[in-house]
Amino acid sequence: MGSPREGSGHTLWGGRFEGGLSREMEALNRSLDVDWRLWRQDVRGSRAWARGLERAGILSAAEAAQIDDGLCRVAGMLEAAPGPGAFPDEDIHTVVERLLTETIGPVGGKLHSGRSRNDQAATGFRLWGKDAVQGLGRELATLIEAIAAKARETAGIVMPGYTHLQQAQPVPAAHWLLSRAWPLVRDLEHLRAVLGECDVLPLGSGALAGCPFEVDREALAADLGFSRVCENSMDGVGDRDWAARLVFGAAMTGVHLSQLAEDLVLFSTSEFGFVRLGDGFTTGSSLMPQKRNPDVAELTRGKSGRLVGNLTRILTVLKGLPAGYNRDLQEDKEAVFDSVDTLAVVLPAMTGAVRSMELVRARIEKALRPEMLATDLADHLVRRGVPFRESHDIAGALVRAAEESGRELSALTLAEMQAGHPEFGPEGFDLFDPRASVESRAVRGGTSARAVEAQFAALEEAVARASVDP
Ligand code: ARG
Repeated sequence: MGSPREGSGHTLWGGRFEGGLSREMEALNRSLDVDWRLWRQDVRGSRAWARGLERAGILSAAEAAQIDDGLCRVAGMLEAAPGPGAFPDEDIHTVVERLLTETIGPVGGKLHSGRSRNDQAATGFRLWGKDAVQGLGRELATLIEAIAAKARETAGIVMPGYTHLQQAQPVPAAHWLLSRAWPLVRDLEHLRAVLGECDVLPLGSGALAGCPFEVDREALAADLGFSRVCENSMDGVGDRDWAARLVFGAAMTGVHLSQLAEDLVLFSTSEFGFVRLGDGFTTGSSLMPQKRNPDVAELTRGKSGRLVGNLTRILTVLKGLPAGYNRDLQEDKEAVFDSVDTLAVVLPAMTGAVRSMELVRARIEKALRPEMLATDLADHLVRRGVPFRESHDIAGALVRAAEESGRELSALTLAEMQAGHPEFGPEGFDLFDPRASVESRAVRGGTSARAVEAQFAALEEAVARASVDP
């Protein structure tokens, strides 16, 4: 019984089977199209494993040298290969081992001693993950720096700050921009933690129960640039927490970028007109000649959907796995690859958009309504000993009086204000300067020039502390 093998003809586990894998199962089984991109990591891990086996006395020096040379030649072949489509194999680990054996003969079959694809795949994935996290961290830091640089450029512009998307209190434009940089700093801190978590070597865990040969795992870790080894081989082959946390970080960044994108969409409408994105980041309409569409921001907002979706994807794969290794884990990579690839496109685009953007001072300042200073009126009375609950009422009544008489709050006379409360003095009229309002909030984290200056310094320090550069 058993039909002849219909597809690859090469697997790493044929011994106990008589029949071949069905075409349908082969299609389900194959992960090469996804894990092809791990070939460098697989070769690197395999070369280190050969050195480990040599140190353990399982490979002679000559065999280890032969395998090492063979793996370098395999790397050359894979470098030149057009892609996974040309290979019938199940996964990248199978490709590397088959090519190795075809290149150097049966001694290639010694490489897999004491190793399983379970610890092998987990190791290659982590090697890839560490590089990916560093790449993302650099892109994220560049975006944060671009936002901070733009914030510096806007020094002096005061804009309406919003709550409920209603004008609330004036803020420096730099303060708004920095409010979009801090969440990204937290994302960078998260990435740094993910890097630490990813920095653990699973190799030497075997299929689940460890390696029977005296392979020095610490030396292996040092060889591959890992700072620790996993302490439990069963956990080692099943642990994808770092991957889930990376995907979570990417989703969180996606949400933060989407929020920044929403500001840019809104502020670049003709109704607001606060922001003008550079031509290089704006598209026109095939129908309406006047259009300048903020596609960079809309696409960023849209991409956050897949970043959030990937988090559900990976957590759902992990949920409910029994101890040890389970084949479900093969589904770990796509979510990670997709999230990293997505951010690798979105982050530079947003960096470019931020750099290109102009803040239109005239439109921003024209939008400042004096009513936004009603809180300052109340605060003025508080400084003169009036309880805030009372001063809030008085300021509210003045806003209503101005509204009913069809005037702006700043057009009320001193007499009208003193009718509200005798403590209003002529100096109260300085309160109608949005700049004075911004300056008056000098607490740490506030809007005064000094507070914002301190914020720039704190941001710079936080970015340096969270750096993921080696
Ligand atoms: N290709 C697999 C992966 O990407 C590794 C294969 C382990 N297979 C197995 N039958 N134990 O995770």
